[in-house]
Amino acid sequence: MPENMKLTRELKEKIDSIVAKSETKQSALIPVLREIQNAEGYLTNESMEEAAKILGLTPANVQSVATFYTMFFRKEPGKHVVWLCRTLSCALKGAEQAEHHMCEKLGVHTGGTTSDGKITLMEAECLASCGTAPVMLVDDDLVENLTKEKIDRIIEELRKD
Ligand code: FES
Repeated sequence: MPENMKLTRELKEKIDSIVAKSETKQSALIPVLREIQNAEGYLTNESMEEAAKILGLTPANVQSVATFYTMFFRKEPGKHVVWLCRTLSCALKGAEQAEHHMCEKLGVHTGGTTSDGKITLMEAECLASCGTAPVMLVDDDLVENLTKEKIDRIIEELRKD
């Protein structure tokens, strides 16, 4: 691992462990970026450059992956992140209406964060709960069979937190 790393010792150890378990350094890239984001909240240019050094990749390689996947934040997200599934089963069960309702309630477009910094609304690909569509992840909790009433209750709770 290069000197002058800004990553914490604990994070470096986690990254080393990911790299050690990976077949190639390239295949460790996404798990490493996830680990950095879990620790720091989002990916800075500096943290991506550090990831590139650790993995022997170019900063452009790392940036292209980080910008391709919507799960990686390039700026600080809200305190809570809501991932609304927009894939087929959820779309057929009203995800679009749920998204419009959420945007209206939150006063943001998808991808945006409320002005109080509490909630970021994102679209997600299939969350593997098609049978209970439409669904969304609120931070790490899956919320199934969404209705406008359920969405309103959740938003109210998140705003209080
Ligand atoms: S399509 Fe939404 S959970 Fe599968």
